[in-house]
Amino acid sequence: MHKNFLSIKQLTEKDIVTLLRSAKKFQEEGMRPILQDKWVANLFFEPSTRTRCSFEMAAKQLGAQVLNLDISHSSAQKGEDLLDTVKTLEAMGCHFIVMRHSQEGVIQFLADHLSMTKVVNAGDGKNEHPSQAILDILTISQYKSDFNEISVAIVGDVRHSRVARSDIFALQVLGVKDIRVIAPSMLLPEDSKVLNVKTFENLEQGLKDVDVMIVLRVQKERMQEHPDKFNLESFSQSYCITENMLKYAKSDVIVMHPGPLNRGIEITSSVADGPHSVILQQVANGVLARMAIFEFLI
Ligand code: NCD
Repeated sequence: MHKNFLSIKQLTEKDIVTLLRSAKKFQEEGMRPILQDKWVANLFFEPSTRTRCSFEMAAKQLGAQVLNLDISHSSAQKGEDLLDTVKTLEAMGCHFIVMRHSQEGVIQFLADHLSMTKVVNAGDGKNEHPSQAILDILTISQYKSDFNEISVAIVGDVRHSRVARSDIFALQVLGVKDIRVIAPSMLLPEDSKVLNVKTFENLEQGLKDVDVMIVLRVQKERMQEHPDKFNLESFSQSYCITENMLKYAKSDVIVMHPGPLNRGIEITSSVADGPHSVILQQVANGVLARMAIFEFLI
């Protein structure tokens, strides 16, 4: 049994298939009160709308009590060590801590120091965002029948994206052979060879005949050097997913985006709201995927 849910890398194919099955079962049969009498604390040190709300909805639908810690009013502002904060929540009897933090590895470190409380990674720096990967592959599985046969393009700021990393690991475990990342050189992942993905700097070439596009936001907040010098306008001219770009992909391509969207920068409204977009389906699947993650841990 898994005590924590920290990364896709720690999961086997069987684990991922179990999570997908469980999410689909919640969709078909509705919720079961499997978290009755359990406490879930949401501890988000970075902004979030979709992820935080869907973890809260998932937990409440399963019967849990949810604490949303207001970081700006918590003792973290008084300089309290993060380990003391989570140990305090554990001593109070919190069964789960759902946590997001800007620093890679911090959530794993804290999880290693808790014995009773289970920890769920809701995004750590540029490292991983495993619950997003589960909802993304759940969404792909609803539109494409065979992971072995599909081509997936991840477009935009791949270098700073934890979503891209977790998605790549999950897609590879499920047997996707053709994974492409498309970005200007400064936004391509530094470890693309290790990640075992094809890289493209030309959008039209990279999109050729793809079945799935995952579009990403430019994450200026994670650029270490001169984020203000990054020219969003010229990025947009070469990499924005417009209706015109869709014609390079397969005619039944699905367009995904984890949100938040910067409309007109990485994707136009006509694509985001158009017939190929499954962005709101991803949001809906987020609640199911997070219910499945809670079930996986109990
Ligand atoms: C992503 C994240 O926080 O990593 N958003 C999300 O969880 N839905 C992507 C982003 O912030 O651009």
